Amino acid sequence: MPEATTIQRMFAEVAPGYDRANRALSFGVDRWWRRRAVRMVGLRPGERGLDVCCGTGDLAFALQAAGAAVTGTDFCAPMLAIAGQKARRRNERGGGPARLVAADALALPFADHCFDFATVAFGIRNLSDPVAGLREMARVVRPGGRIVVLEFCRPRLPVLGALYRFYFGRVLPRLGGWISGARNGAYRYLHDSVMAFPERGDFLALMQRAGLQRPRLCLLTGGIAALYRGEVEA
Ligand SMILES: C[S@@+](CC[C@H](N)C(=O)[O-])C[C@H]1O[C@@H](n2cnc3c(N)ncnc32)[C@H](O)[C@@H]1O
Repeated sequence: MPEATTIQRMFAEVAPGYDRANRALSFGVDRWWRRRAVRMVGLRPGERGLDVCCGTGDLAFALQAAGAAVTGTDFCAPMLAIAGQKARRRNERGGGPARLVAADALALPFADHCFDFATVAFGIRNLSDPVAGLREMARVVRPGGRIVVLEFCRPRLPVLGALYRFYFGRVLPRLGGWISGARNGAYRYLHDSVMAFPERGDFLALMQRAGLQRPRLCLLTGGIAALYRGEVEA
């Protein structure tokens, strides 16, 4: 696992081309995954949410568009700067202001129980201690509130699995660097970190270790991505 400062530097270099690479490399499916994450939160009117590792803000903005008051946090200034530019454009079009805060997901600068839910998309895998990250999200969410995690997964269907391994392991590391403009091996790291990260039942077990209740899993796109949901003890 790279040091936090290495992760920060890596995302700083990827930031200008991050959204473009996301759309191209996932064939646009990443947007649908984030919409599914919003649905899994099960928003009620007027709820306040936190999106950690928010990057360029796509999940935070999708939650906001669905009616939540969302705070996005990330520890990479260039990613957050792009989120800020997008937030200003959204606000000019009447999308409402967004709150973006520079923060480490392992030490959130918020009081206990001040959000109704917390989300993280493609971020938990980058934390040096994912259980500590889940505990920190749970600390700032009220009892009974929800934690939703969107993360890559490894498909097990025979044909899809073989295509995925070829695309994700051979094509994406090169194409990702080319499309994003980052020459720092970020998309090789993406592949390696996804291969090494606990998925499905193993990740549900991590949620349980973090004290989350009723952990559940929903596979997306044949198991290429997964949504996990847990509740903070009431
Ligand atoms: C793959 S991006 C995901 C961005 C966004 N959530 C999305 O769905 O596109 C991972 C993000 O996690 C952030 N990150 C990684 N470790 C972090 C940490 N310890 N604290 C805060 N942000 C972190 C990175 O800076 C990066 O912006």
